[in-house]
Amino acid sequence: MTPGGDEIAGILALEPDLGYGAYLASDCTSCHADAAAEGIPRIRDLPAGTIVAALVDYRRGARQHQVMETIARRLGDEEIAALAAFLGEAD
Ligand code: HEC
Repeated sequence: MTPGGDEIAGILALEPDLGYGAYLASDCTSCHADAAAEGIPRIRDLPAGTIVAALVDYRRGARQHQVMETIARRLGDEEIAALAAFLGEAD
């Protein structure tokens, strides 16, 4: 298993709270609008597992991007699960 894989699997096993995800996602859509902007990928409709993996990697510094690392470090597991469930496609 890749490093971080257990953490990702643990988050994907949580029961996500969609309403909480919608609330938290209002902090994301200012940058991640529906149409991808220069340098900002579209995240809506990515597989939930892809969103969880990206946020875990930013949070632990395995994927580097100053803004996203700062954002991801403020997120707990429940919050990542809720965001991925709201923004992503179930996979
Ligand atoms: C200030 C602007 C900004 C905000 C706010 C922001 N992001 Fe990002 N996000 C970015 C940028 C820029 C990237 C591309 C970083 C890179 O190249 O790794 C990114 C990348 C991502 C990725 C990886 C997408 C991929 O295709 O690999 C995910 C997932 C993500 N953001 C989720 C979120 C979530 C969830 C929130 C809200 C909690 C959020 N972002 C808030 C700017 C932002």
